[in-house]
Amino acid sequence: MKILVINGPNINMLGIREPDIYGKETFSDLMALLNTVGKEAQVEIEQFQSNHEGSIVDKIQEAYGTVQGIVINPAAYTHTSVAILDALKAVAIPAVEVHISDVSSREPFRQISYPGMYCEKTIAGLGLEGYRQAILYLKEKYAD
Ligand code: DQA
Repeated sequence: MKILVINGPNINMLGIREPDIYGKETFSDLMALLNTVGKEAQVEIEQFQSNHEGSIVDKIQEAYGTVQGIVINPAAYTHTSVAILDALKAVAIPAVEVHISDVSSREPFRQISYPGMYCEKTIAGLGLEGYRQAILYLKEKYAD
């Protein structure tokens, strides 16, 4: 099984960016965690991070026919991007939304998630652990 993990804008700044909200673990720590979880769960993980909405849409489109699950933290595009929602609907690949912080207890503008309207599940507020749970959920549900 192949799972594509997509991270949106500023996730590459983990560890530097607002550590009181997003924690001290770095983007490299996240990449290492994805690698470990992939090996443990015996799933192929491809990781993609972009600060650009269109690049994320392109990546989701390219996943069509090649990827069996998507884990996505759309970051700020969570709250604005109908384009990412439509791309997920277009490829119809099972997807789980992850947020490092607990978005439900943050500002009102973070209370809407467009990509979340497609995703089967949202995991928020667990830090990097949320990515592990999302991968394991997709593996348990969709691996042959
Ligand atoms: C985030 C939450 C978003 O509201 C924010 O814009 C981010 C990160 C999270 O992982 O907690 O960039 O998606």
